[in-house]
Amino acid sequence: MRRFSSDYLRDTRRGMWEDRSALAPLALDSRSRILDVGCGTGELTRVLREESDAEVVAMDADRALLAEAEADARALGDATRLPFADDAFDLVVCQALLINLPDPLAAVEEFARVSADLVACVEPDNSEVVVESSVAAEAPLAKRARDTYIAGVETDVTLGSGAADLFADADLTGVESRRYEHERTVAPPYDEAALAAAKAKAAGTRIVEQTPTLRRGGLSATAVDELKNEWRSMGRTVVGQMGERTYERRAVVPFYVVVGRVASDETGD
Ligand SMILES: C[S@@+](CC[C@H](N)C(=O)[O-])C[C@H]1O[C@@H](n2cnc3c(N)ncnc32)[C@H](O)[C@@H]1O
Repeated sequence: MRRFSSDYLRDTRRGMWEDRSALAPLALDSRSRILDVGCGTGELTRVLREESDAEVVAMDADRALLAEAEADARALGDATRLPFADDAFDLVVCQALLINLPDPLAAVEEFARVSADLVACVEPDNSEVVVESSVAAEAPLAKRARDTYIAGVETDVTLGSGAADLFADADLTGVESRRYEHERTVAPPYDEAALAAAKAKAAGTRIVEQTPTLRRGGLSATAVDELKNEWRSMGRTVVGQMGERTYERRAVVPFYVVVGRVASDETGD
């Protein structure tokens, strides 16, 4: 299972749901029992609780992350073997979970089992991420690293744009998908997270952490070293521009909000 730090989750989700219009198909104001699967630190759980009077249950396979999620109830468990009875919820939802699972269809089928009404997901397509930066080398380097990572990673991190097909494969009906762009900007004055991210770039941390995946994506050990050196050099320029308060960065991560309805068992005869 891919692990995430709470700092990473809080940082990457910051400001994500300032505009909540893309969540309208979840009909949150009419729900009575919601399950947030793969809740992490509860970044989506908080939004669900703010938008609904429902009982909201947070679930994750990572005990430490789950402990940080504020919810009406918490459950430790696996998304593909949910510890709940059939029809226990009227909405089962996840955010950035399916892209991390080897068998996302098995999870969606399990969501459909425990939901009596709606199933939803909020999943990115990481092949569509766009970066703009005042450091000229940053956007092309980020694209090179991202494309190689996508080629080497063992789960489908581009799944968002195709999640509607997955819902149809799980026999959900009335499937609806809408694209939601999460824009993240860095500009002066820089907060702690931005300063830490710049230091990590100068240290080449991301390339070091992703080396096995980059190798699987087709880079030789020498090519990874070259990428790491270019990345560090780019990071030092970022740190330099931050010192002069001229560094600016904008990243757009496209998420897809997909909703489907559980087919009724009634035959009508
Ligand atoms: C990218 S994080 C997303 C967290 C949160 N939904 C958010 O958007 O901030 C993916 C989460 O899925 C959890 N996870 C991964 N595999 C899982 C599984 N098989 N069952 C339940 N949770 C899982 C991870 O522990 C992590 O918290």
